[in-house]
Amino acid sequence: MTITKMRNYRSMLRSHILRPHLIETHWMTDSRTLRMLKAYPSIFIKPNLGSGGHGIIRVKRWNGGYEVRCGPSRKIVGAHSVLTAIHSYRKVKNRYLVQKGLSLAKYRGEIFDIRVFLQKPEHKWTISGMVARVASPHHFLTNYHQGGHAETLQKVLLTLFQNNKTKVDACHRKIEQLSTTIANTISKWHPTRELGIDLGIDRKGYIWIIEANPHPGYRLFTQLSDNSMYRAIMDNKRKMAVKA
Ligand SMILES: Nc1ncnc2c1ncn2[C@@H]1O[C@H](COP(=O)(O)OP(=O)(O)O)[C@@H](O)[C@H]1O
Ligand SMILES: [Mg+2]
Repeated sequence: MTITKMRNYRSMLRSHILRPHLIETHWMTDSRTLRMLKAYPSIFIKPNLGSGGHGIIRVKRWNGGYEVRCGPSRKIVGAHSVLTAIHSYRKVKNRYLVQKGLSLAKYRGEIFDIRVFLQKPEHKWTISGMVARVASPHHFLTNYHQGGHAETLQKVLLTLFQNNKTKVDACHRKIEQLSTTIANTISKWHPTRELGIDLGIDRKGYIWIIEANPHPGYRLFTQLSDNSMYRAIMDNKRKMAVKA
């Protein structure tokens, strides 16, 4: 079975550890989109089978109307034409989800989220790397393919929690607990040995699960001056290749 965003979301919903960290998500329909826009200041519309941030549409309340963004393109519209603007960015062949927008925390003025790289070289999932992904200036996506770059997670968390080490450590532990639970949950029905998990932190410091990818890229980890996580990823890849 292919890993899709909705399938992942539904399997994670069954976990009482993960449920409080999942972002409200539905299949996208016009009426659901309008209801979500009434309820929240911003929403994200994503292809169920997308990756790399491609095709993601963000709709945000804007001066009595809406701002609709997709890739480098942006439209400011009134309430009556928001659906038309959204549909102009949709690809007919894709199925889409609609999700509540998070107010992601910022690092040096730009939003960031967290990428956790997990591998299962033997019988247990292990975290090979964790990194903060900072969006390029003014962008609403943090993906590497959208210009996002890596920063050391510890440095970013220390800035976010104003050098409060207790809060930083607690956040680290929660990231580890959520990531391993996600990997155990997904690998119950999908026999994968690598996962890249995206976690968002909102302005209040609360952690949200954005998604889990079955074929994560590792180039982000080559951007860090400390290459120990990159080496751990590569070592595990070699171990898994020998075993396969
Ligand atoms: N609900 C959301 N609120 C705020 N930002 C989001 C939300 N969902 C996604 N993003 C941003 O968009 C990026 C890509 O979304 P994601 O669901 O990971 O799709 P993809 O599979 O294309 O990477 C995330 O890394 C994050 O920066
Ligand atoms: Mg992603």
